[in-house]
Amino acid sequence: MIKIDTLQCKACGICGNVCPRHILETIKENGQKTTYISKSRETLCMECGHCQAVCPNGAIALERFRNEQFPEHDSVDFDGEQILEYVKQRRSIRRYRNEPVSRELLDKIINVSRYSPTGTGKRVTGVIVVEDSDIIKKLSALVYEVYEGLDKGLRNPIAKQIIKRKIGNNLVSTLTDFVMPGMRWYIKWYKEGKSNEIFRDCPALLLFHNPVSEPMASENCLIAAYNAHLASQAYGIGSCVNDLIPPACNRNHKARELLKLPKDREIYASITLGYPKYKFKCSIPREFVDVQYL
Ligand SMILES: Cc1cc2nc3c(=O)[nH]c(=O)nc-3n(C[C@H](O)[C@H](O)[C@H](O)COP(=O)(O)O)c2cc1C
Repeated sequence: MIKIDTLQCKACGICGNVCPRHILETIKENGQKTTYISKSRETLCMECGHCQAVCPNGAIALERFRNEQFPEHDSVDFDGEQILEYVKQRRSIRRYRNEPVSRELLDKIINVSRYSPTGTGKRVTGVIVVEDSDIIKKLSALVYEVYEGLDKGLRNPIAKQIIKRKIGNNLVSTLTDFVMPGMRWYIKWYKEGKSNEIFRDCPALLLFHNPVSEPMASENCLIAAYNAHLASQAYGIGSCVNDLIPPACNRNHKARELLKLPKDREIYASITLGYPKYKFKCSIPREFVDVQYL
């Protein structure tokens, strides 16, 4: 619910202009401008907070927020070139020192990630922070079990057809051609006690979840995970987006229990984290296949 303080409001109309659904409207009647809330669109409010943040006169308040949650910005003194340099130095870090990441640093990384945009404007993303090595160990065993089962299924022509019907041809092709050839080695090395290549022997893990009913669940979680990945580097922590862990956790009821994942939610993105074991001294060329200006 939006409230307009009519004493403060100067009816400049900026709030309605930035509102994605034009819930606030400014009209001129008898030479006098007034801003009001459209009765027919009020229920469309996504509570994004833009109207409150942009109002130059502090005249708008959303019921779900407190005023002190809208502090004025300090100026930020970095430029585009510095951002370019930062993202060029960004790396997916898969090898970690055997050293825990403090709760304080994990909180800082999550604090950056929570400012991520969401598809419907709703704040429905949750994060499971796994910092207990015992839980990572137990979860690892369950995730490898899922992939071992999947490998057996995909090698059996009848089971493969059933899997295809369940998850679709495209995903089966990705699994068969991209995931499983590497995964068979991961399973072998894990069973031999050599390494844990799915979890990369990480000291900490962030799992981002959304309600299954959320239309942009996967995108919301991936963007939040990516921002956490970007932030972690700034705090001296290496991380890597990991798309092997979420589907296996979702499909295994013991993993869901271990993670206390609510029934109506699924994990759509994850990052492994830890202190980087190695330093990358050069950036790597990265190109788009094509950039067209039309
Ligand atoms: C959606 C997505 C999923 C990824 N999943 C994995 C993964 O499961 N395991 C992994 O080691 N790396 C994963 N990565 C990291 C990429 O493989 C990585 O970006 C790539 O190796 C390039 O390295 P860079 O990020 O340092 O540029 C993923 C990245 C993205 C964007």
